[in-house]
Amino acid sequence: MNYRHAYHAGNHGDCLKHALLVALLEALRRKDTPFGVADLHAGRGVYDLSGPEASRTGEWRGGILKLLEDTPAPLRGYVSLVQRLGLYPGSPALIRALLREGDRLVLNERHPEEFAALSAWAGRDPRITLRQGDAYALRGVLPPGGLKRGLVLFDPPYEAEDEIDRLARALVAAHRAAPTLILAAWYPIKHLAPVRALRDSVRDARLPRRVDVALHLRPPLDPARLNGSGLLVINVPWRFEEEARAIVAALKERLAEADGSVHLEAAA
Ligand SMILES: C[S@@+](CC[C@H](N)C(=O)[O-])C[C@H]1O[C@@H](n2cnc3c(N)ncnc32)[C@H](O)[C@@H]1O
Repeated sequence: MNYRHAYHAGNHGDCLKHALLVALLEALRRKDTPFGVADLHAGRGVYDLSGPEASRTGEWRGGILKLLEDTPAPLRGYVSLVQRLGLYPGSPALIRALLREGDRLVLNERHPEEFAALSAWAGRDPRITLRQGDAYALRGVLPPGGLKRGLVLFDPPYEAEDEIDRLARALVAAHRAAPTLILAAWYPIKHLAPVRALRDSVRDARLPRRVDVALHLRPPLDPARLNGSGLLVINVPWRFEEEARAIVAALKERLAEADGSVHLEAAA
């Protein structure tokens, strides 16, 4: 319960996750039928990059600042939302900005202070339901807003030893409970063993229509550093694979070191 996203907001991991999240939401918006989103590790909604936490780490300078200074075409949708929304938008703010009148958003956050900030930010938006609880307690949450089209975002802090196991089990349970929803899970790359464990679990569970897209800023040789991150997506929408390829290539170009690389794997 020590993790506070304010120290990391706008870093390269957020840029990867949020740019791909915007692409998934844009895909849902291509049809008029309403969609529901469950953001299960929501955080506080928005972040002040000039505040003490973000200033202390300066992580955003290696992420969103570089994209604001020079925005490659595949990242324009995401970066223009960041410019428009003022404070750095966390996943709840990006999702809310792309909701239409009939769409629904469930925001879940466990930490009391983060939940209080999230509730204050959300205000009285009739499209939003707030929930303070464990992200992996899915009963009653899926499908979000009772809508069968939509997206579930898992974005845990990976503080707990068993996070990968819990996440892998939750992906399987979420898919069983609501087989038509897109599921997206962000993961950090410090070293490769935990990433391989997550990929193996998802492959063994035969979760359908997967795209796993990752940016390595550098080879993952020093496990004390965040060397990159990835997003694992189940039930990908049409055209997402090619959009993800363009997004991650643009992020590599702007954010990675000379020996950085991209990983993109798709499975039916
Ligand atoms: C990486 S941050 C979320 C950032 C947010 N999704 C965004 O992109 O702006 C992870 C959040 O999950 C919360 N958290 C950690 N474990 C949780 C759990 N088991 N259930 C719900 N929330 C949890 C933390 O308090 C933290 O705010």
